[in-house]
Amino acid sequence: MIQNEWYAVLSAHEVPDGRPITVKRLGVKLVAFRNKEGKICILEDRCCHRGASLGLGEVHEGCLACPFHGFVYDENGKVIKIPANGSNFKVPDVYKVKSYRTREIGGMVYLWWGSDFFEPDCEPVVFKDLLGADYSYSEFKDQWSVHYTRAIENQLDVVHLPFVHRTTIGRGQKTVIHGPVVESTDDYMKFYVKADVDNGQNSPLKPSEVKDLGNLNALEFQLPNLWHNIISNKLSIFAAFVPVDEENTVVYIRYYQRFIKVPVLKQLVNKLGIWLSIIILRQDKRVVLTQEPKYSEYRMHERLIQGDLPIVEFRKMRAKKINEDDNIL
Ligand code: FES
Ligand SMILES: [Fe+2]
Repeated sequence: MIQNEWYAVLSAHEVPDGRPITVKRLGVKLVAFRNKEGKICILEDRCCHRGASLGLGEVHEGCLACPFHGFVYDENGKVIKIPANGSNFKVPDVYKVKSYRTREIGGMVYLWWGSDFFEPDCEPVVFKDLLGADYSYSEFKDQWSVHYTRAIENQLDVVHLPFVHRTTIGRGQKTVIHGPVVESTDDYMKFYVKADVDNGQNSPLKPSEVKDLGNLNALEFQLPNLWHNIISNKLSIFAAFVPVDEENTVVYIRYYQRFIKVPVLKQLVNKLGIWLSIIILRQDKRVVLTQEPKYSEYRMHERLIQGDLPIVEFRKMRAKKINEDDNIL
């Protein structure tokens, strides 16, 4: 995992009021709960007393009590009460577990994965268009037994559509992939897709030969793990590829739309939208789970083609971050 990044780790609705949930993210067992103000707090899920999971504990007044001997943790992971020592006992500072900085934006929970010694120098970068109050969305999540880089690359892979999705979004035999045109910064990329039927051309258009970008389907990717397919200015598919550990990823996929706003109809449309997304995602999963190795790197034994340019760009962005910080887990 790249360090010093805000990772999308959960959908906010997964963390209820009044009780904790446990998840594994970035290779660590975590417990999440809400404090008195409803803010999501995430701690390492291992009681500092004798190692029990805090996930079976209870939330009172925004603090989390261990189910084993009742140590009470505040939102910063500090033990504020040891019942066996009496309620006036002053708990020493060493009684604590690691706590993680969190943010809740657009219904996703972001966790700062970085050094304990430095405050984050940035806030999570999200796709702002999707925060519009007129948008509604439906969501689905699924666990894949691959490193999150493989799951991300699948969504940057333009070439697979007429094969993997020949019965859905890849209909029409548009097997020739022009470009793609990729615009990028250190941690963000946008790419434009122009697919064509095979007319016997000798090669696809080079990126510099692809014109009228405004009329093409555009997709965005934001390091470390957010993806956005801009289907129109009223319809988008969003995904977060959440690392569970080195071999597992949870894919959160959302169908966002703002063309229907009437309550019941809106829910129906959103249900249909996510239903189609689930079918498409299952088509992807079937193939991606067979890929070897289960993670990707900048330099690896693959023979890539021009149509893989967004994947190459992703690998470059990631490699640069890893080299900059020399901080791979
Ligand atoms: S193991 Fe948690 S209080 Fe003892
Ligand atoms: Fe796909």
